[in-house]
Amino acid sequence: MTTTSHDWPSYKKRIAECGTADALVAIEHELLGRKAGVLTLALKELGSLDPDARRTAAMDLNEAKKTLTEAIEAKRKELMSPSDGTLKESDGIDISMQLPKKQRGHLHLIPQFIREVEEVFGRMGFDTMAGPEIETEDMNFNLLNIPAEHPARDAQDTFWIDGKKVADRKDRLVLRTHTSPVQIRYMQSHKPPFRAIFPGKVYRKDADATHSPMFHQFEGLMIGKDINLANMKSVMVTAIRELIDPNAEFRFRTGYFPFVEPGLEVDMRWQGDESESREGKWLEIVGCGLVHPNVLRNCKIDPEQWQGFAFGFGIERMIMIKHRIPDLRSFYEGDLRFLRQF
Ligand code: DAH
Repeated sequence: MTTTSHDWPSYKKRIAECGTADALVAIEHELLGRKAGVLTLALKELGSLDPDARRTAAMDLNEAKKTLTEAIEAKRKELMSPSDGTLKESDGIDISMQLPKKQRGHLHLIPQFIREVEEVFGRMGFDTMAGPEIETEDMNFNLLNIPAEHPARDAQDTFWIDGKKVADRKDRLVLRTHTSPVQIRYMQSHKPPFRAIFPGKVYRKDADATHSPMFHQFEGLMIGKDINLANMKSVMVTAIRELIDPNAEFRFRTGYFPFVEPGLEVDMRWQGDESESREGKWLEIVGCGLVHPNVLRNCKIDPEQWQGFAFGFGIERMIMIKHRIPDLRSFYEGDLRFLRQF
């Protein structure tokens, strides 16, 4: 084998393309290893050539050795710097560079929205309180002016909890069907005037694309000496504008809920684009009304002295309207492609 048969440029290319320090050491060894390095051996072979050939070959080989050694050194510097966290001398700092976003966990959109609710109502002076998800029949129904034979009980398909026999039927346990019992708990434990909201999970027996056996509501209550429907309207409008859509249009309709009198339902106009079938339709968004005197009395608050309003929002419903989410089930499936959008 003669020295001229080596393809030195191909080694240079391999050095340039080399991606790891280990691979670089391997190439260096292959070329310059003391015993079997290709370049080392080629240099040794020079001795066996005739003087003319030796001169040119020696020049070529020395040139190759210089170029390749330099290339190896340059590559070594390049490979060293990023892995030990330092910058190469030639690295500029590109402050406009888009780095990949770090994937971090965050709150699910429901608790995230509940925090917004607390914040918006907090600014209007509302306190927040949580209540238990297992309630007595008394709390969930009777004290809210929904007696046993009341048809309103059918509207809320209830999960009853089997348990120890209770002496009195009113002590039977249920998974609360709404957050309204928390207003009873609040009124029993606080002296008016007050204003508070009560967010949490509620349970009903239906399940399809628009109903889930568990969903979230928040209840609200404001009691004072002269709290009236105008105050209620202003709180409802502020809440909906801040939480869903600053340009929302409203419609107030009478509605029936046993725990308020009069009862109202607030609708919001769906402002989808024209392709949506719901465009221009009114969507019911909250039930509300002036707290029924019976309910105040049940909580030892004198209706001759105190009055006020209560309301109940469906949280998933609000979020669905806000973000145009078509299927309620997306909230609970845990699909990160969905959840990461919020
Ligand atoms: N509890 C009602 C429900 O779950 C919602 C509701 C309506 C709450 C009117 C209220 C109210 O406080 O005044 O359907």
